[in-house]
Amino acid sequence: MTQEQTPTPLVELHGVARRYQVGPATVTALDSVDLRIDEGEFVVVLGPSGSGKTTLLNVIGALDTPSEGRIIVGGQDISSASRGQLFDFRRRTVSFIFQSFNLFPGLTARENVEFGIDASGRRERSEAVKMLQDVGLGDRINHFPHQLSGGEQQRVAVARALATDNPVLLADEPTGELDFRTGTQILELLRAEAGPGHAVLVVTHNREISRIADRVIELSSGRIVSDGPPPGGPAPISELHW
Ligand SMILES: Nc1ncnc2c1ncn2[C@@H]1O[C@H](COP(=O)(O)OP(=O)(O)OP(=O)(O)O)[C@@H](O)[C@H]1O
Ligand SMILES: [Mg+2]
Repeated sequence: MTQEQTPTPLVELHGVARRYQVGPATVTALDSVDLRIDEGEFVVVLGPSGSGKTTLLNVIGALDTPSEGRIIVGGQDISSASRGQLFDFRRRTVSFIFQSFNLFPGLTARENVEFGIDASGRRERSEAVKMLQDVGLGDRINHFPHQLSGGEQQRVAVARALATDNPVLLADEPTGELDFRTGTQILELLRAEAGPGHAVLVVTHNREISRIADRVIELSSGRIVSDGPPPGGPAPISELHW
């Protein structure tokens, strides 16, 4: 393989653990995690409730600090970065779709998306409306989050994350609130985002969704128990049923 063909690693975890002290008990949310994700990969992280999926996204996105190990994202060692470097990292390297959306309640759908654009500085503000149209919310741009259904709020969160155009997209149950048709449209947008210079990690309980991934990582009790392509290789989105 020539140098140009070698994929660039966008996420690397080396011996990562995250433990919480709750009274006298130690809870191990992640344990001995070694992981590399390259540009272009569309990765699904599967695992039961409590297996460490959200914790994994949070440490990759520098929203939480591991108890042990090294994490390198977009070529930057975030385990040893300063607060100032991490501030910039959160704006320009990662984008999140949170399990609980985390939209700004005082901002309209359009302003929430513009916030993502302003943070990364990679797009024009005027593109916010197009991003909302892409998730099927062209007629909801001036609605505040409390005026939107759960699934609509989730789609604003998807548009805000895509609008940043950042290299690493971290999505925690991005289709949890959505019906099948809307869910598959969103998955299509997320999968299209994985390409040169971009990787996408989608966390889900739904094994069916993992069929369209390039790679499926399974977590159990904070450890990676399997990592590889789905059986038979990635299926087209048109084959999904849930
Ligand atoms: N702040 C915390 N303090 C103590 N324990 C925590 C904390 N955050 C998470 N945990 C524990 O760590 C484990 C992993 O939590 P995590 O939120 O990563 O699970 P998850 O796989 O995302 O689950 P779900 O599918 O329910 O969202 C759980 O057992 C949880 O109770
Ligand atoms: Mg979770």
